[in-house]
Amino acid sequence: MTARHFLSIFDLTKTELENLIERTFVLKDQRKSGVPNGSLTGKTIGLLFEKLSTRTRTSFEVGINDMSGRSIFFNPRDMQLGRGETITDTARVLSSYLDGVIIRTYAQQRIAEFASYSSVPVINALTDLEHPCQIVSDLFSIKEAGLNIEDMKLAYVGDGNNIANSLIGAASILGFNLAVATPEGFEPDPAIVERAGHTSGANIEILRDPKEAATNSDVLYTDVWVSMGQESSQERSREMFLPYRINSKLVSLLKPGALVMHCLPAHRGQEITAEVIDGPGSIVFTQAENRLHGGKAVLEMFLGTHLGTHLDAQ
Ligand code: CP
Ligand code: NVA
Repeated sequence: MTARHFLSIFDLTKTELENLIERTFVLKDQRKSGVPNGSLTGKTIGLLFEKLSTRTRTSFEVGINDMSGRSIFFNPRDMQLGRGETITDTARVLSSYLDGVIIRTYAQQRIAEFASYSSVPVINALTDLEHPCQIVSDLFSIKEAGLNIEDMKLAYVGDGNNIANSLIGAASILGFNLAVATPEGFEPDPAIVERAGHTSGANIEILRDPKEAATNSDVLYTDVWVSMGQESSQERSREMFLPYRINSKLVSLLKPGALVMHCLPAHRGQEITAEVIDGPGSIVFTQAENRLHGGKAVLEMFLGTHLGTHLDAQ
């Protein structure tokens, strides 16, 4: 049987995405109450990260440990990959040892190439194009905060990056309303927008005006203006992005009690003010914690022995 990979949010059906969100509630409760989880017993999962990470690396490694598995972290600089061995040969070799590989890299094509030569499941821990695991746990965070996902309007303002792209995919799968506002030239990936348009009953708007996006939204989400790998690649004028900063004025346009989200790391005072990130509507740090619980649901679905389901009955 060929391995099933999680390379894009579009790899999930509506039911699977809903199941992941529901399962995250159980896994979070179980961890808080000390219920053991043996879903990855006897499994060794590799993490191959070609970009930096605080949350994703740590939460996956802790999650694997919680689920009685073992993790090995690979820095490509310490591997033959770092001196020219191909990604496909690396995939063939690593997947002959490991039970799953979690990859953070640049081009989506690179993780897709790895996956096509991997005999074990590959999970996308962020590429230039997508960050699907982030969005799974973010949807859980929204539901945990009391919102009904299908009825909500989420506004994403800032750079049309990997977070925006995976949010667009999620909106098309689950059917929520999404307004994305970006400066000119920084729109989300056109192929993703088109795909979402085809698969969706959702109302997905790609806008220029951040105020229009934010008005009457239930959730306001932003991310850094310069993603990893883009530092020197193109002219990003701070002036172009300034209107997209989340400050209390933009927040005042949201529905009362609306949530503010950021996947982190944040540049306080740049894409979001300190006042807002530390303010009453912000769920940013719960959102970060939930990467652990949501990541475990992903691990269980793609790599687990489904003992987790068995543990429900305990
Ligand atoms: N949100 C997120 O993926 O954070 P890291 O880059 O720290 O993993
Ligand atoms: N868009 C950001 C997200 C970091 C979690 C980046 O790719 O750097």
